Amino acid sequence: MDLKAILKGTGVAAGAYAVGAALGKAAKEQKIEELPTDAKQLTGLVKVNIDLGEDYGNGAALTPPMGWSSWNTFKNKISESLIVEVADAMEKTGLAAAGYNHLNIDDCWQSASRDANGRLQSDLVTFPSGIAELARKVNAKGLKLGIYSSNGKLTCQDLPASLGKEDIDARTFAEWGIEYFKYDSCHYKVLPFRGPCIEKIAVGTLGSGTEVIYDADDAVLEGNAAIVDYDRVETGKYIAGLGFGGGAAVFPQVIAEEGGPHALTICIRKKSHSEKFAVVEVNGQVACDTIFPPTWAVVTKEARHQVIVDLKKGVNSIRIYNPVGSRFDSFAYQYARMGKALKRATREYAQAAGVPEKKITYSICEWGFNMPWKWGKKAGNLWRTTFDIFPFWASILAIYEFTVRLWKHAGPGGWNDPDMLEVGNGALNYEENKAHFSLWCMMAAPLILGNDVREFLKADGAPDTSNTAYKIVTNRAMIAIDQDPLGVPCRRIESTGLQDILVKPLAGGEVAICFFNKASESKPFQLRLASVAAKDFVDLPFADSYEVTDLWSHFTQAVGDEIRCNVAPHGVKVFRVKAN
Ligand code: GLA
Repeated sequence: MDLKAILKGTGVAAGAYAVGAALGKAAKEQKIEELPTDAKQLTGLVKVNIDLGEDYGNGAALTPPMGWSSWNTFKNKISESLIVEVADAMEKTGLAAAGYNHLNIDDCWQSASRDANGRLQSDLVTFPSGIAELARKVNAKGLKLGIYSSNGKLTCQDLPASLGKEDIDARTFAEWGIEYFKYDSCHYKVLPFRGPCIEKIAVGTLGSGTEVIYDADDAVLEGNAAIVDYDRVETGKYIAGLGFGGGAAVFPQVIAEEGGPHALTICIRKKSHSEKFAVVEVNGQVACDTIFPPTWAVVTKEARHQVIVDLKKGVNSIRIYNPVGSRFDSFAYQYARMGKALKRATREYAQAAGVPEKKITYSICEWGFNMPWKWGKKAGNLWRTTFDIFPFWASILAIYEFTVRLWKHAGPGGWNDPDMLEVGNGALNYEENKAHFSLWCMMAAPLILGNDVREFLKADGAPDTSNTAYKIVTNRAMIAIDQDPLGVPCRRIESTGLQDILVKPLAGGEVAICFFNKASESKPFQLRLASVAAKDFVDLPFADSYEVTDLWSHFTQAVGDEIRCNVAPHGVKVFRVKAN
């Protein structure tokens, strides 16, 4: 280690360059250096390369979450009084008792201005009591309050959002008692794939006037990282190759005389007019991440980029790398970052306030654009698989077709989310509503109602048990399929294109079987139960007789081996089967 207790400053590079020439060079460099440099980086651009480590495992959503959300019906026409009325209806209708225990406020709850402390605040007129008070009211009805933001500077309706403010927003939500958080991806900004070109790092206590310098040569290099003598104008050694998740520079001998916050200055070569990104790990833990602005190198050739890190007294190891090699990685990294902030915030708030921790069910909403099923279980509790649902048949069908294939990625604590329910909304007829609900239960999807549940109450305040949408969403036998503790989504075991047969393993060696008719006329189905028992993903035993319950007519019968039925157009029949 080369120890130089001097304040070096950046200095001014010798000689001035003609601005035009410098800009021309920057543009040329950008073109060349933006490109991945080897085949691995090139293929990495279309893959999830990042390893997020362990499953999210916050202990929430061990079965698919259930509840209600404001978006599908109310969009931006929401208010505190509406939410209180919905909470009241959820309790009185028995929806809360049937398991729908989350009450989620979607977009448009926020004021366009953050408060004086930079915290999000609710609309100053339509949510007069604030969210903490609303949470208390909702909790009093036996429900948990959920809230929404976006992994961008603004939400989808252009209100303030959480990118770059993850910690403060997570702390605010924890303090308010939020228990479900939907994180959208409007106004998202992809992280740079390139890494900084590091000349050296400097470490000093804040305001001390001195710092210790560790040169490029002091680093242990991993992967693609290499020392290069890049500069043809001023010679200098730099660590390159930190981009595209390809390499890391580890400074294993960073000495701190005292433990506590230190300024870590990453001295970089100004190279090309593009942003770079790096994560800083201290002693094996991520300390922070940082974006390096585009650099022009018109006058000075190197820059000081500073972050604050906590060091322990004695020897520390600092590792600098960019794990992002594709836009998939970028989404995975930033969704995981918010997830970690939420976990930390609920734990710390509970400790500080001396109250039991309220876990936040973390709902990732990037519309399935970045293969969230590949990383979602490590970042959060559920992930949208597709773009938004709409209350007509083509939308329900398209989302089902896409999501049913993703069965292997979901399980307790991490679920495929084919979006909130449209039962009771729009142009769906009775069979379609029933099929929509059944398919979501078979896929072990979250059951988040999206209709106006106040319509489930009669004028006298009692539940309207004749309401067909109400009957569908309170079918406890179907809900039990969704909520089965095994937490395994169905698999499509047969399909003719227009007729699908789905099988969902259940706890205790039982199965749910769904016959789904996509055609516009009735269709006959038949299935031998021995062929189901033979599947390796179910525990249904071979038997001479099975107890078969139709989960919509609630009729139970003993069946030798074969189930036969007719299914209405756009309809389903669902059976729960166990060996006698
Ligand atoms: C996106 C989401 C929707 C809803 C809106 C809110 O479109 O996918 O579910 O949250 O934003 O603006």
